[in-house]
Amino acid sequence: MRPLHIVAVALGLPLGAAAVSASAHDHAAPVAVTVYKNAQCGCCRKWVDHLRKEGFAVTAKDVDDLSAIKAKLGVPASLHSCHTAIVGAYVVEGHVPAADIRKLLKEKPVVAGIGVPGMPMGSPGMEMPDMPPDKYNVTAFSKDGKQRVFASH
Ligand code: CU
Ligand code: CU
Repeated sequence: MRPLHIVAVALGLPLGAAAVSASAHDHAAPVAVTVYKNAQCGCCRKWVDHLRKEGFAVTAKDVDDLSAIKAKLGVPASLHSCHTAIVGAYVVEGHVPAADIRKLLKEKPVVAGIGVPGMPMGSPGMEMPDMPPDKYNVTAFSKDGKQRVFASH
């Protein structure tokens, strides 16, 4: 942080601005994810931890009315879960594994987003030592309401 700090002070920039421009030149710049979640929800927090461990730059926002955000972003009711995220142009709903987000960003399918409905046991953020993991699908959804299986776990 020290060299950055000096540059920021020399240029009279707020530190945040210097940090942003420095990371824009970094080849391994982390992918930004914005997560809308409920402040009381522990599994949302664990999913955020999972993404951070996997190298994503997560901004977590606690909101009171998640259903309004889901409606605005076009998350189908059949895929609703406890949190809703934005990654680039995509919506990511629920306990989607980081690997599937990477696959989404690499393959760039023409979809609105991907989601895991509910809270399957064993999905990232829903690991419970005493509970056997569920099988679950990650479903891709389009603005026109079409859905297809994107990944299976
Ligand atoms: Cu959850
Ligand atoms: Cu959650």
